[in-house]
Amino acid sequence: MSANPRENGSEFYVQKIPWEVNYDESRMPVYTLPKLLRCEDGTPVADAAAWLSRRRPELLRMFKEVMYGELPPLPDRVRYELLSEKKDARDGKAIRREVRIHFEMKNGRTHCIDLLYYLPANADGPVPVFVGLTFFGNHVITDEPDVRITGTAGGPEGARGEQVRRFPIDTILERGYALAVVSYHDIFPDRETGWADSIYKLFFSDDELKKRPAGYSSISAWAWGLSRILDYLETVPEIDASKAAVFGHSRLGKSSLWAGANDKRFKLVCVNDSGCGGAALSRRLYGETLFSMYHSNTVGKWWFTDTLEAKSGHPELLPLDQHELIALVAPRTVAVHSATEDRWADPKGEYLAVYHAGPVFELFGKTPLASETPPAPEHAVGTDVSYYCRIGKHDLLLSDWEHYLTMAERLFKR
Ligand code: GCU
Repeated sequence: MSANPRENGSEFYVQKIPWEVNYDESRMPVYTLPKLLRCEDGTPVADAAAWLSRRRPELLRMFKEVMYGELPPLPDRVRYELLSEKKDARDGKAIRREVRIHFEMKNGRTHCIDLLYYLPANADGPVPVFVGLTFFGNHVITDEPDVRITGTAGGPEGARGEQVRRFPIDTILERGYALAVVSYHDIFPDRETGWADSIYKLFFSDDELKKRPAGYSSISAWAWGLSRILDYLETVPEIDASKAAVFGHSRLGKSSLWAGANDKRFKLVCVNDSGCGGAALSRRLYGETLFSMYHSNTVGKWWFTDTLEAKSGHPELLPLDQHELIALVAPRTVAVHSATEDRWADPKGEYLAVYHAGPVFELFGKTPLASETPPAPEHAVGTDVSYYCRIGKHDLLLSDWEHYLTMAERLFKR
């Protein structure tokens, strides 16, 4: 009998329509991960130099072709407009600024995004920074009544302060970090017709944007936006942009991982409950799968490329898996988080992807995760490559931030 249960009849989980979700490890097909340290032509990758010169570019190209599409180019011109500054925000603990980032093309096309950022008021020098996107607008992360309402192009507006729990601003500031956010809708409004109101309008005409331009995705737009925020932060004297962390939760965790894989300026990559198409291995058919992403209503088809849709039923045939995406961050630092009740995102699949990325970090003298068995909940493991599983639901909460801040302290203040 074949070793692959898929070929042994259908007692194991097989993806089909109507679509069903599998939460039973014993029903999962046996899978083999693509070899991280072997080039497409079979050449083994023996050292960091071969990884950087051959395998890394090859994998990056594959992730673009198969999953996330190209990253858009740079605009012809970028202009920064200070919209507001409050020197005694948050009871004097913070300097708060809002900045409009204008992207301009020689042919007259323009687009802008609104950045909100906080600096610790008492810093005695340039500080490291956490860069991320918000769901539903900048005003959802704070109760401050004078923070602008942003991100409304995406659909219904989030309520002021609605996601305060996800952004412990004072804790982040007290630990000595700046925090910078933009609404993801500013970059690409998260809807099927979002193309025409997104940053893609810098590069394509309205007519071209009536449908998706081949080979692009909203996740690539969000990742691109994270890098453009960092371009701006590099101009801020109070920020040490050589110490930048990128973070994101859920679909924005998929985006922060993709941004971190591409942009080497992000020295710490925080990936929260990112699940399928993020940190979780695609070959594990547990919880959300690439197939279900295209057959349930929980995912926008515009998040990924069309190419992925065509291949989503057969992740075992893909030339890549998500451990290789995590490996693209090496030798920089990565922290992947799950939550015990977030089975949809497959916590074990997220852990295993981090574990299997280990050999690449080792090429750089970094420490991989030691065990193939996930740690107990709320017990963080790893230093350069790290994993943490919070007890609770799909969310981004203080205990996640405590671990991201610990990682940042280890990295930036050594
Ligand atoms: C859904 C979707 C996930 C996604 C999440 C989110 O649950 O299935 O893939 O990560 O939404 O971004 O909120």
